[in-house]
Amino acid sequence: MSDRRLPPALAAAVAERVRPERLGEAAARLSAGYRANLPSRQAVPDAAGVAAYAASRMPATYAAVTAAFDRLAAARPVFEPRTVLDLGAGPGTASWAAVALWPTISSLTMVEASADFRALAGDLALGGPPALRQADIRRGDMVQLAGLPEGNFDLAVVAYALTELELAAAERLVVDLIARVGRIVIVEPGTPRDHDRLMVVRGAALAAGTRILAPCPHAGPCPLPPGDWCHTSVRVERSRAHMRLKGGTVPFEDERYAYLVLESPSLAGTEDENGGRILRPPRLSKHEIVFSVCRADGTVGEVGIASRNRAAYKAAGKLGWGDFLSNDDLN
Ligand SMILES: C[S@@+](CC[C@H](N)C(=O)[O-])C[C@H]1O[C@@H](n2cnc3c(N)ncnc32)[C@H](O)[C@@H]1O
Repeated sequence: MSDRRLPPALAAAVAERVRPERLGEAAARLSAGYRANLPSRQAVPDAAGVAAYAASRMPATYAAVTAAFDRLAAARPVFEPRTVLDLGAGPGTASWAAVALWPTISSLTMVEASADFRALAGDLALGGPPALRQADIRRGDMVQLAGLPEGNFDLAVVAYALTELELAAAERLVVDLIARVGRIVIVEPGTPRDHDRLMVVRGAALAAGTRILAPCPHAGPCPLPPGDWCHTSVRVERSRAHMRLKGGTVPFEDERYAYLVLESPSLAGTEDENGGRILRPPRLSKHEIVFSVCRADGTVGEVGIASRNRAAYKAAGKLGWGDFLSNDDLN
């Protein structure tokens, strides 16, 4: 599992540029705006808003993107991307997460609509490795892929940004990306709204022949009943400044996110065989661990592992919400 904390160079760059004590109002506006599903241009409309975003949201979005990248790296351990496209890049969060995991990356293209976000992304990138310092940070509308440099990208990431598009535009974007990009990681807030939207996008991706590497263990319709939603959670350490800014009382926050890892049908490959995706925190008793799982046959259900089955019980104790059960875990 990769380190989910901001890399020290990025954390230092944010701390240097952002004074949390001056950002209370902008941070409150940002939280209220995103809770009301306002797009960034309204929730984060100026330089103070962008600074508040870096201080209050970047550690959590970085952690969620890293966790989703880990799922791609687990499914494709020999994948070594060189060229990465980061759409709706904001301050460059996902680009930083990508270079931390894959040092092979030599070319980063960030597409971002907001001048304030682009300015901060460029400023923060100065403290990063060469791929970040040389990143192409371009003004643009992420749904217009036609303006991008010629050639295909090894990886595209759309982090907390698809949520800001009209649903039809999000579907079109993902289908267009599949034609130009080998692998695509989409990360969204872990809300019922974003799950529902992601399932529509998933349907469009499947219709275009795409393989889903995670989180779904099957290519059938999502079997969750109405009102339930597929998401998971990553724990993020909080600095004192961050706690003050967000009025937190504990030194961590749990970031809930939903995600999809897609693979172009033009690449050779198959989906992994597995025993199902763990859909929520396991229920633990002295006698058994019970996992709620989405299974490879397209159904959801519960799997219990009894403590008398010592080896399997011990192995199951290491698994958590969002992990895959392997077929071995079940025996
Ligand atoms: C919530 S922020 C996420 C930033 C970053 N990806 C992260 O994970 O921290 C969403 C970003 O998408 C950008 N955005 C929204 N719609 C866009 C569009 N059509 N084209 C380019 N950027 C867009 C916003 O300006 C904002 O910077």
